[in-house]
Amino acid sequence: MDNTDMKQIQWFPGHMAKTRRLIAANLKLVDAVAEIVDARAPLSSRNPEMDSMTKNKPRLVILNKCDLADEKATQSWINYFKNNGIEAVAVDCKSGRGLKNILPAVKNKVLAELMAKREQNGMSGAAVRLMVVGIPNVGKSTVINRLSGAKHAKAEDRPGVTRTKQWVKLDKSTELLDMPGVLWPKFEDQDAAVRLAFTGAISDDILDIETLAAKLLLFLANGYPDSLKERYKVMPEADMSGFDLLESVGRKRGMMISGGEINTERAAITVIDEFRSGKLGRITLEMPQKRD
Ligand code: G4P
Repeated sequence: MDNTDMKQIQWFPGHMAKTRRLIAANLKLVDAVAEIVDARAPLSSRNPEMDSMTKNKPRLVILNKCDLADEKATQSWINYFKNNGIEAVAVDCKSGRGLKNILPAVKNKVLAELMAKREQNGMSGAAVRLMVVGIPNVGKSTVINRLSGAKHAKAEDRPGVTRTKQWVKLDKSTELLDMPGVLWPKFEDQDAAVRLAFTGAISDDILDIETLAAKLLLFLANGYPDSLKERYKVMPEADMSGFDLLESVGRKRGMMISGGEINTERAAITVIDEFRSGKLGRITLEMPQKRD
């Protein structure tokens, strides 16, 4: 994805209240909630009110885009959610890996109690209903389309545009509720907002592209230095700032403007695009902390 097709979404209190109401009103129609997050930033890409909004509904977290995330980190996140009483599965919609684990996780783990009760009452044929939620760009439409094997209308992702909720029948025993309304991300938390800007989930207008790329390069120099060595032949040193790293990338790539100056804007666009498309390797932007 380049900068020109970046999603420009704005959130307003009225739209947020409407989405909150919609979720509350529809929760009674479903047995469980599947919350899709970006495996590269599993907390930053959650809606900040998801826990309170879904109250005591059984929940599955789907760590999508795990093809772009660090495999070990993804496993740590699965453990983290499990330790917090939430079942989690890793999914990669590009190859389809993990998709087949979603429904068994819902039926055998998230809803094990309900399924046992239904079995006892001779109701085991009753359909399982699952609400699917996620902030924009985590891959909600892609997951739904891959699970159903069909292309459904894309969830309208402009707040205020009316769209009715959509039931997607997967088979005789499973139905998904694709919720209209847009869930807002954690934009009040600056670090989370920057991580979401790295992934392209929110507009990178929150920072100019060079500052954004400099922040990403500094993160990579600390957490994934090999990715910089391999992709750009840049050897991060302890005293280098993000902008020093950006200049090094530009220099190594021969991105010059007249007068021998480095075209840091071009270098920044390259770094951000290459991170988003996975060319820098599999990278996770945040790790579970004990305090989380
Ligand atoms: P949304 O409904 O949550 O807003 O997200 P959507 O499904 O539209 O997906 C957002 C972008 O993420 C899409 O890319 C989609 O292809 C990509 N995506 C979804 N799942 C995965 C995944 O598991 N791995 C990877 N690598 N990418 C994923 P796009 O650039 O907006 O469009 P396009 O490239 O599909 O044309």
